[in-house]
Amino acid sequence: MTTGNAPCLTGETCTIGALLTEIRRRLLAAGVESADQEALWLVEHALGLSGVALIVDGRRMLSGREVATVQKAVARRVGREPLQYILGTQEFCGLEFEVNPSVLIPRPETELLVRETIRRLPRRRGAVLVDVGTGSGCLAVTLARSVPQGRTLAIDLSDRALETAKRNARRHGVESAITWLEGDLLAPLAGRGLEGTVTAILSNPPYIQASDWPTLQPEVRFEPRTALIAGLRGTELHERLLDEAVPFLMPGGLLVLELGRGQSAALRRKVGTMPAYKPADIVSDDAGIDRVLIVERAG
Ligand SMILES: C[S@@+](CC[C@H](N)C(=O)[O-])C[C@H]1O[C@@H](n2cnc3c(N)ncnc32)[C@H](O)[C@@H]1O
Repeated sequence: MTTGNAPCLTGETCTIGALLTEIRRRLLAAGVESADQEALWLVEHALGLSGVALIVDGRRMLSGREVATVQKAVARRVGREPLQYILGTQEFCGLEFEVNPSVLIPRPETELLVRETIRRLPRRRGAVLVDVGTGSGCLAVTLARSVPQGRTLAIDLSDRALETAKRNARRHGVESAITWLEGDLLAPLAGRGLEGTVTAILSNPPYIQASDWPTLQPEVRFEPRTALIAGLRGTELHERLLDEAVPFLMPGGLLVLELGRGQSAALRRKVGTMPAYKPADIVSDDAGIDRVLIVERAG
């Protein structure tokens, strides 16, 4: 049995309070900033208890098996695996999404793509919406729920990401409302009679420069490299999407792309050279970073 300040080791019994103290110490030593909050979430998740129960029952003895279960989850976090992969979920636009190492963890700034698209959509009834690089399906699922009068298609290169996205769509009651396509950017749209009919194409494509990979936070490097890294410039997929979207968008149709820091000027210039589009609009995120590029197909 372990009490007081002694570490709660795998296989030994100890109190909830002592275990929480031990986890906070290990997380802080590993460089995890919000160690207090994360310690609670990890124990809650591993033992299926509420945060309130953990605080109220701080003196409750845990069995050696319970301690071992918690320490297994803690070891993953100490190795800087993202908390969301350990807990298995991330919230996006008020919905809970399953996440695992085959998909990017949805980021709060990506909610801007949904907000701006819905706000500017030229029509809802019969709208055709395409999510390119769907990952967890967070964009396709929120779009399909927000525009039930429309049709949503979701594309990804990764079959494992598509499987996760489908489970998320099922969880939120829209799996059969979405057409799932595996392939490279807009290539899977060919041969479906969609030319000139698409109301909006959204994408949060990979946009990190290949040379930045070693500088990324340890947590980010647990996410799929194919979800993060573009090419030497970081804007390669945006440029391809600007070209590939032209034949599919209806007049007034929208291409809505998430951007990385410092990428807006080059992409605005590219749009300026394309007569198929009206001048680009840029929306900044809460941190003041140009985050979303919105272009409208000229009529
Ligand atoms: C940054 S993640 C975005 C995931 C999700 N849409 C989100 O916002 O959280 C990019 C996604 O694009 C996919 N992807 C990368 N290159 C692609 C390509 N050439 N064609 C289709 N999908 C691609 C990746 O597999 C990954 O799921």
